[in-house]
Amino acid sequence: MAADEWWRDAVVYQVYPRSFADSDGDGIGDLRGVVDRLDHVERLGADAIWLSPFYPSPQVDFGYDISDYESVDPEYGTLDDFDDLVAEAGRRGLRIVVDLVMNHTSDEHAWFVESRSDRSNPKRDWYIWADPRPGGGPPNNWLSSFEKCGAAWTFDDRTGQYYLHSFTAGQPDLNWRNPDVRAAMGKVWRFWLDRGVAGFRIDVAHRLMKDPDLRDNPPEVAHARRHFSHPVVRQRNLDLPETHDVLRELREVLDGYGDRFALGEVPISDDARLAEYFGGDGMQTAFHIAFWEQPWDASAFRACVDGLAGRMRPGSLPTYALATHDISRTVSRYGAARAGVAAMMMLTLRGVACVYYGEEIGMSDAPPDEARDVDGRDGQRTPMQWDDTGGFTTGEPWLPMAPGHGEVNVGRQLDDPDSLLSLYRRVIAYRRGSEDLRRGGYRSLDTPPGVFAYLRGENLLVALNFTGRPASFTVPGHTEGRVELSTRTDRTGVVPLRLEPDEGLVLRLGPVR
Ligand code: NOJ
Repeated sequence: MAADEWWRDAVVYQVYPRSFADSDGDGIGDLRGVVDRLDHVERLGADAIWLSPFYPSPQVDFGYDISDYESVDPEYGTLDDFDDLVAEAGRRGLRIVVDLVMNHTSDEHAWFVESRSDRSNPKRDWYIWADPRPGGGPPNNWLSSFEKCGAAWTFDDRTGQYYLHSFTAGQPDLNWRNPDVRAAMGKVWRFWLDRGVAGFRIDVAHRLMKDPDLRDNPPEVAHARRHFSHPVVRQRNLDLPETHDVLRELREVLDGYGDRFALGEVPISDDARLAEYFGGDGMQTAFHIAFWEQPWDASAFRACVDGLAGRMRPGSLPTYALATHDISRTVSRYGAARAGVAAMMMLTLRGVACVYYGEEIGMSDAPPDEARDVDGRDGQRTPMQWDDTGGFTTGEPWLPMAPGHGEVNVGRQLDDPDSLLSLYRRVIAYRRGSEDLRRGGYRSLDTPPGVFAYLRGENLLVALNFTGRPASFTVPGHTEGRVELSTRTDRTGVVPLRLEPDEGLVLRLGPVR
C-alpha cells in the first residue's frame, strides 16, 4: 500500500460539533471544545476526525444549510480555532476531515440572495429555477427528502418562479450544470485543502445532478423521497450518470494534494449502483448505507457485506458505520448487550471504520420532548456524556443530556477493562497492529444461523454470535484457535470454535489439519 493511502485502514471518529464539547458555557459545542477533548479521540486510537458542518449557517438543518463555505459559524468559533484544531490534532497524529455540502446552500448564502433577487441576475442560473406547470403548481412531482417539507419546490413571490430544494426550503439546490458553480465550488475545495484538511465527507454525493428537462419522476418511483431502487425505472432527481463527472473533477483536485481522500455519503442501498461511486477515478470510499439498515440478524449482515463486496471495483473499499447524526444509535436499535459484537464487526470488516461520537460508550437515543430537528433526528444528537455530571457544558445544553448519562459516560468507562470503551480501544489498537485487518482479504464462512464469521487474511478468523445463547460453529480443517480478541475479558489461550452468548471473537487459526 502506498504511504499516501493512509485512509485505507483508517478509523474515523465523527464529531457533531454542536454536541461534543462546549468550551464557553453557551450550551452549544464548539471547535475549542473539540481541541480540549482531543485526548479522548487520541486514546481511542482513531486516525481522523470527521467534523460535521461548522460553517456559518442559519441552522435550519443544523449546519447542512451553509451560508458561507469559507468561514466558521461564530457559535462554533473562528477560522483561527479551526487552524488550531488542525494543528493540535496533527501533533497527535490525527487528521481532520470536513463535511462538504455541495448539493445545496442555505437560502441565506450570498449566491442565493443574488439569485433570487431578479430573474436577470447573473447568479440566477446558479440554482434551479422553473416556471409553475401550466395551470399552476410546482414544475414537477419531485419530493423533498423530508416528509415534513412536502414538495421539493418553493414558490418565490418576487420573481414568480419555483426553486428546487431536495431538503428544506432553506436549502436551495445548486445547479451543477453551470460551469461557474463548479468553479466556485472548486475554490471551496482548495480553500480547505490548503488549510490542511485530510479530506472531505461528501454530503448526498448522488444528488448533484438532476434531469436537465426537469421531467416528472415516473409513477413507479414518484412516491420516493429518497433513493428508491427500482429494478428498471430510474428517478430523475438523483443518481444521474453526469454526477460522476463532478466527482471525477473533485478526485483530480484531491489527487493533486497527494494524500487526501473523499468519503461519499451515497444513500443508495442497491449494491451495483452504490459501487459506481467509489474506487477507480471516483471518490476513494463511500458509506455502505445498507449496513446500518440491517436487522440484528447474522445472515442479514453477511448478505449485506458480501453483496457490496462482490460488486465493488477491484481494490476499492467501503466505509462501515453503525450510527451517524442521521441514524439511530446502536444501543437503541439493537440493545446494549449487542453493542460489543456490533463494534467488533464494524472494526474488523475490510474497509474504513467510522465511529459516531458516543457510540464508543454505548450512548442511547434520547429524543427531547420538544423537537428541534425537521426530520426527527434529535435523539441521536444529544450531548456527549463525559462524566457523571454530564461534562459537556457548564451552561444549559442546547439539547437535554440523555437521561442515562450519570451511568453511561467516559469517566466511568475509561479504567474499566470490561467497559465498551475499553473494548473499542482494544479492537482499534489491535486493528492498527494487524496486517490482516488492515490489508488482508475478506471471505465469509458458512456458519449455523445466528453466527456471522469471516476470515481476514489467510487465517485470522472473526466470529460473531448474534444470539444470547452459546453457539458452536465449524471451519473446515480447524477445531480451535488462539484468542486474539474477544468482547469478553475472560477469554485467553487456545479455545474451541464456540462462542459465548453475545460474544465476538477474533481467533488465529493454526495450520489446516
Ligand atoms: C445528509 C446529512 O447527513 C443530513 O444530516 C442532512 O440533513 C442532509 N444530507 C442534507 O444536507
